[in-house]
Amino acid sequence: MFKKKCVQLGKVPTSILLTPDDSFHSFGKTAEDTYGEKCSNGERDWKLFKNFKMTLYNASDKKTTRDLVIEDCRGNTISAITLFTLMFSHLKSAFVKQLEEATKGVPDDWIRWVITVPAIWDDSAKQFIREAAEKAGIRKIILALEPECAALYCGTLLQGLRDTLKNQALRIVGPGSRYILLDMGGGTVDITAHEVSRDFTYDELFAANGGPWGGENVNIAFQEYLCEIFTKPVFSEFCKVHTEDFYDLMGAFEQKKRTFEARMVQENKFVVIKLPYYLGKDFPLNTPMDLAVKEHDKLKIPAKHMMGFFNGTLDEISRHIKNKLKTEELKDINNVILVGGFSVPNIVKDRLKEVFPENANFYCPENSEVATLEGAVLYGQSQIHTTYEKSKPRSITPSINSRRSRFTYGMDSHVQFNPTKHPESKKFRDGDEVFCKDYFWVLLRAGAKLSRDKKGTMRTFTMDKDSTTLDVVIYKTENPSPKFVDDPGCLRLGTLVVDMTEGLGIPNREIKIGLQYNDTELNVYAINNRDEIVKTTFDLLA
Ligand SMILES: Nc1ncnc2c1ncn2[C@@H]1O[C@H](COP(=O)(O)OP(=O)(O)OP(=O)(O)O)[C@@H](O)[C@H]1O
Ligand SMILES: [Mg+2]
Repeated sequence: MFKKKCVQLGKVPTSILLTPDDSFHSFGKTAEDTYGEKCSNGERDWKLFKNFKMTLYNASDKKTTRDLVIEDCRGNTISAITLFTLMFSHLKSAFVKQLEEATKGVPDDWIRWVITVPAIWDDSAKQFIREAAEKAGIRKIILALEPECAALYCGTLLQGLRDTLKNQALRIVGPGSRYILLDMGGGTVDITAHEVSRDFTYDELFAANGGPWGGENVNIAFQEYLCEIFTKPVFSEFCKVHTEDFYDLMGAFEQKKRTFEARMVQENKFVVIKLPYYLGKDFPLNTPMDLAVKEHDKLKIPAKHMMGFFNGTLDEISRHIKNKLKTEELKDINNVILVGGFSVPNIVKDRLKEVFPENANFYCPENSEVATLEGAVLYGQSQIHTTYEKSKPRSITPSINSRRSRFTYGMDSHVQFNPTKHPESKKFRDGDEVFCKDYFWVLLRAGAKLSRDKKGTMRTFTMDKDSTTLDVVIYKTENPSPKFVDDPGCLRLGTLVVDMTEGLGIPNREIKIGLQYNDTELNVYAINNRDEIVKTTFDLLA
C-alpha cells in the first residue's frame, strides 16, 4: 500500500524543515510549504535543507567522515549525521504508521528495509548512511545500488508487457543480452552494464561508474546565469533574505525545464519566467538583449542560453560514456536502457543517441522516474529468496549474480628492497636487511569479479605474544596496479582494528586479514589460526 501511494503521488522532495532549535518539524513538500509560510511571517530562523543527498558523493580521492556538515541556502549548518538520522526516523515512523493503518501487529523484526544508494557512492558514504539509519532505530538494512534496482525493474517489466513490446524488450533486457543502463537522476548519473543469463541473473560487465551530472546541474547553471545578470552579491542577498521567493523561482524554472525543446533554439524563441519582485527590481538596465530581456515582471531567457544550461552536464556525460565505450568490456554493446527523471527530456535522449553506435537499441521503460523505487522492492525480495527460499518463485525474479570491484583495496606493507623495481626513496634498513616501505599490498583489484562467496587474497601477520590489538590501515585507489600507498589517487580508507586479546602470551600468533564484498558493502575481516573470525572494527568515517 505504501509503495502504491508513493507511485501515485510522485516522488517526495528530499527536504527537511527544522525548528529554530534544530528539532525535526516536517519532511518533503510539507517542509517546503511550511518553510514558505514561516518566511512570510517573518520567522527567519527556521532551517530548510534540500537536495542534501549529494553531500555524500565523493570524488575518488575523498571520503565521507562523521564530522561532515550540511549548509542550507542561508548558510545555517547542521551535522550531516544528525540530519540523515532525523530523516530516517521520520521515514520509519511514517511507514510504520501506514503499515499499522493497513494491518495490525507486524513485529518490527519482520521488516527489512531497503535503502538505495547511487552505485558510484564510495564505501564511506555507504557506511555513513547505514550508521545514520541504525541511529534512527532501523534494523535489518539492505543497501541496494540504484542502477541495479532499475535493472531488476526492467527485467520484471517484461512479465507484464504485451507480446510485440515484449519481443523488442527481450532483445535488450532478456536472456543472452548485454546492455548498458544509465540511471539519470537529480544528483548523479549512475552507469552499469550487465550480461543477462538464461535464468535472469545478471553479471556486471564493468564496475559501476558515473558522476555528479544529474538534472540538478541544469538548475545550478540557471542560478549561475542569474548571477551573471544580477551579479553574485545581489543574487546571494536575494536568496538569503527572500528565500521563499527564491524557491518559488526555482519551482517555476523546473516547470520550464521540463517543457523546453531544442527546436526553440533554431526558432529563436525565449523561455519566459516570472521574476520575483525583489529580484526583478534590481535588473540592470544595461543587460545585453542577447543575454536576457525583462518585460514587466517577466524574464525572457533566449533559448540558446536555456540550451546552454543543459550543455555543460550533457557534455560531461557524453565524454564519460565515449571513454567507457572504448573499453574492451563495453566496446560492442549496443543495447541501452535509460531510467531516471533526467533521461525523460528529448534533449537528453537526443544527445545520448549521438554517443552510442547508430544501430543502438534504446529502451526507456514506463515510469522511469520510479524504476529505482520499484526495483528496490524487487531487490529486497531477491535477497530474501536467495537467503530463505530453496524453491524458485513461479514468476521470473531477476537477481544480481556478480559485480565488479570499482577500486583496488590493500594495505601498507614493506617488502625486500629490489633496486630494479623500487626507487631509492623507499629504501630503509632494519638490522642487516634492506626493505622497501609504503608498498601497496593488494587485497582486491579494481575490475575483479565479486560474487557471493568469493573472497580476495589474504595477508598473514605474525603477532608477538603481548600484543592486544593489531591495527591495519586499508587503502584504496582506482588504479588496478598501484605500487605504493602514497601514489597519486591512493586514499587512506580507514583502520581495521583486530582484537588480539585471545591467546595473549602465546608466541608467534598468526592472524589473516582479508577483504570481501557482502553484496553491496565492503567487509574487512580477520581470521585466526583455528579459522575462526576474530572480532574487529573497521571505521571508515573517522
Ligand atoms: N520531463 C523532464 N524534463 C527535464 N528534466 C526532468 C524531467 N523529469 C524529471 N526531470 C529531472 O530529473 C531529475 C530528477 O530525476 P529522478 O527523480 O530520477 O532523481 P532522483 O532519483 O531523485 O535523484 P538521484 O538518483 O540523483 O538521487 C530532476 O533534476 C528533474 O528536474
Ligand atoms: Mg535516482
